[in-house]
Amino acid sequence: MGVVLLPQVSRRWLRHTIPLAIFALLLFYLCTRSLRAFEGCGSGAQPCVTEGPPPSQIRQQLGSLEAPEREEPRCLSPEGMLGRLVRPFRASLNLEGDVELSQYLAGWRELIKFLTPFGSIFTFATSEAFSKVTALEARVHGPDAVHYTSLATMAAWERRAGLLERPGVAPPDSAKASGSRTTLLLHRALRWSQLCLQRVATGAHRGPSAGEQCSDAYSTVLGPHHPWLVRQAARLAFLSFPGRGRLLDLACPRTGEAEARAALARAAGTLEEVYNRTQGLLAERGLLQLA
Ligand SMILES: *[C@@H]1O[C@H](CO)[C@@H](O)[C@H](O)[C@H]1NC(C)=O
Repeated sequence: MGVVLLPQVSRRWLRHTIPLAIFALLLFYLCTRSLRAFEGCGSGAQPCVTEGPPPSQIRQQLGSLEAPEREEPRCLSPEGMLGRLVRPFRASLNLEGDVELSQYLAGWRELIKFLTPFGSIFTFATSEAFSKVTALEARVHGPDAVHYTSLATMAAWERRAGLLERPGVAPPDSAKASGSRTTLLLHRALRWSQLCLQRVATGAHRGPSAGEQCSDAYSTVLGPHHPWLVRQAARLAFLSFPGRGRLLDLACPRTGEAEARAALARAAGTLEEVYNRTQGLLAERGLLQLA
């Protein structure tokens, strides 16, 4: 009987002992760590500074133990450069199947803030996105504000009110362009920004430079809509485009390259979601031919 019981007893014993032993080891490890932190202090001469890692660092270490890819890069946090631009763009998608205009424009304001230090080409390639954002904001907050809450309501209202330009005919005064046309121009500039940032984030070290990648995106997305002279000027301006390292540093200051690339790719992904939704809405309404 004892012979039969023994393996069971010892198995049960083991089942309780192993976790206990692990717990004890962990406790021992933690104690020696905190003892080490106190070493050389308390007995007079040296001040007692216990320098543990800051809480965020601990969280990061824990995060990297649990799931290596899960931790949100710092520059995507609400205070980070990319975080500030991603948040309103994401919020613009909160309306089911529609795009909320005030959030879309808030996102654009942050995108412009982010792109401006990269050089004049951004202002140029996005063809004065700033003035377009301002023009659309004037409508969103103007006397007809009630019709300018979302892309769908705006398009419906402008069609009803006869405010839409004829397809392919540019308005004589771009300040008086319809909200739908202004949105279309911003929409194309958003596509270019998204492709440029995405390619910078994912480009191979020995592949084309950031300037070449963004210039390429320009030729595909915006070039066909710009006059010859503007295209030539853009081609020249891309020659002084910042390098990948500088772009990543502006996007995620004081961060390792891999983390900066991951954050930039995530931000570009959000821009793509917004682009996709807007593209669908404009296409359904036949608004992609406005100019
Ligand atoms: C955007 O649409 C394209 C084409 O339909 C698709 O391949 C892509 O995955 C979409 N991107 C996002 C972020 O939804």
